[in-house]
Amino acid sequence: MNKKRMLSGITTTGKMTLGNYIGAMKNFVALQDEFEMYVFVANLHGITTPIDKDILRKNIKEMVTLYFACGMDPKKSTIFLQSDVLEHTQLGWILTCNTTIGELQRMTQFKDKSTKVKSENGTEFIPTGLLTYPALMAADILLYDAEFVPVGKDQKQHIELTRNIAERMNNKFGEMFTIPGDYTPKVGSKIMDLQDPTKKMSKSGANPKGFIALLDDINEVKKKIKSAVTDSENIIKYDVENKPGVSNLLTIYSALKNISIEEAEKFFKNKDYGILKDEVSNVVVNLLEKIQLKFKELFNSDLVDSWLEQGAEKARKLASKKLTKVKNLTGLNYKRK
Ligand code: TYM
Repeated sequence: MNKKRMLSGITTTGKMTLGNYIGAMKNFVALQDEFEMYVFVANLHGITTPIDKDILRKNIKEMVTLYFACGMDPKKSTIFLQSDVLEHTQLGWILTCNTTIGELQRMTQFKDKSTKVKSENGTEFIPTGLLTYPALMAADILLYDAEFVPVGKDQKQHIELTRNIAERMNNKFGEMFTIPGDYTPKVGSKIMDLQDPTKKMSKSGANPKGFIALLDDINEVKKKIKSAVTDSENIIKYDVENKPGVSNLLTIYSALKNISIEEAEKFFKNKDYGILKDEVSNVVVNLLEKIQLKFKELFNSDLVDSWLEQGAEKARKLASKKLTKVKNLTGLNYKRK
């Protein structure tokens, strides 16, 4: 039986966080047997906001190593670096030309990030890529005829836009793209900041105590969880509106234990916040220790580079076929209809 194809990526703007892990990476790893999986390290997306070249290099190296340290298996999945497959940017350009400025300006992430760049740097220098990047993301997805795109909640709007662009192109030029569906985890599609649980946990979070990075020092991680914001009720129940901090800790626990929120609530019934934090700390530390051990093993070996080369080669095969089809149908390739 043919497996359905999935594709996803993570941007190299900073450290991979527990939010990225629970919302995305954990699912890539878990779904490798069931789906034909294409995952990539989105380094071209990593330059949409200004970044120092040495930091970018370090981010990419860490991120590619982390994919494998988290459990991506090069025998089962196709794992590659985005800029190694040139077709992404060519299709990205074609899609940019078939997307409106209005559509891009409506993207929540653009609104948030452009405001942030302005307020942090006091500058009007908003890179154009910050606006147009959803068209590149659409190309990432449509090049591979992905049927599903496993992502966290914050990326759903971009996938919706991808569907709109794909439908528009199919209608205008003839069938060329598969319409992708999104695939968000039942538990953990939006992990919140530990210090401000009304905000998403983010790699560029202002307060480093608010996010956990997979490569954080283990003692720091324990401290961060201990100092996570809760409330004064000392009742453990899931109620995002009134108890965002406790709900976030319950979510992290459930996701990493692979149990439902209700099961977690049952487990913590009549227990106090101290125990909740201890238990969350145990599951997180357990996970991070395993990942960090594997990371150290892989970081200085040549294995990662050779796996990425092999991944890019396989990805190019699908990508070049699709790009040729698009060029034929849109008239760019003047010799073919
Ligand atoms: P990025 O790098 O911001 O995030 C990578 C993945 O992690 C998820 N995520 C979260 N999930 C739960 N809780 C959080 N706090 C949290 N923070 C992040 C995101 O939803 C995402 O799934 N543009 C994308 C990368 C990308 C991509 C693609 C994804 C580029 N091309 C094609 C899918 C398909 C991005 O910036 O994700």
